[in-house]
Amino acid sequence: MSTPDAPLAPAGAPLIIAIDGPAAAGKGTLARRLAAHLGLPYLDTGLLYRATGRRVLDAGADPHDPAAATAAALALQPEDLDRPGLRTPEAALAASAVAAVPAVRAALLAFQRSFGLARGAVLDGRDIGTVVFPGAQVKLFVTASAEARAHRRWLELQTAGTPLPLAQVEAETRQRDEQDAARATAPMKPAPDAVLLDTTALDAEAALHIALAIIRRPRN
Ligand code: DC
Repeated sequence: MSTPDAPLAPAGAPLIIAIDGPAAAGKGTLARRLAAHLGLPYLDTGLLYRATGRRVLDAGADPHDPAAATAAALALQPEDLDRPGLRTPEAALAASAVAAVPAVRAALLAFQRSFGLARGAVLDGRDIGTVVFPGAQVKLFVTASAEARAHRRWLELQTAGTPLPLAQVEAETRQRDEQDAARATAPMKPAPDAVLLDTTALDAEAALHIALAIIRRPRN
């Protein structure tokens, strides 16, 4: 791990790096590598929504049902984040459904904020720069072409031993992005002061270097 040349946050202020963007744009890989590089804690906020969606599915309820989704979010336990089955396409769609319920988002907000404020953090999600930490010192909105994103997710599923046809992965990714961008509460969108980072033609190493250059450039 190396440390930055100059302090990135004022003395005493936790450094918050917000990474938002659509599904499979490379946010998670970038956020994890940035956190390791800068010595910051990392929070995958999608996991909170996935675990909530999973709880609803396990209860045999509909993730679009606001009452069931809210009850699941309020009952969430730390160990829910370690359970298997959170990375499946089914859990992703359930996460996107529960994420549209305002009371679910409210229930998960305090945890995200206290995680970041404890020691600073890199957080990835859909509304980190707009809602969770609108005052984050650094905001990146990570995108890639729909084809590149679907192909990456397809490869991930292959590697995980749960292959699906590319067309199905593409359709589910599109459905999720549309749902996440169209919801009324905390929709996925770049914060006005976010820097866009298109990873279509970048590998993980190149994306990390560009992100570090963005983070280290002088801000006013
Ligand atoms: O990042 P992910 O693919 O694991 O997220 C799963 C779903 O959770 C995503 O489709 C929308 C929702 N989500 C959200 O609404 N807000 C966040 N900050 C993170 C995820």
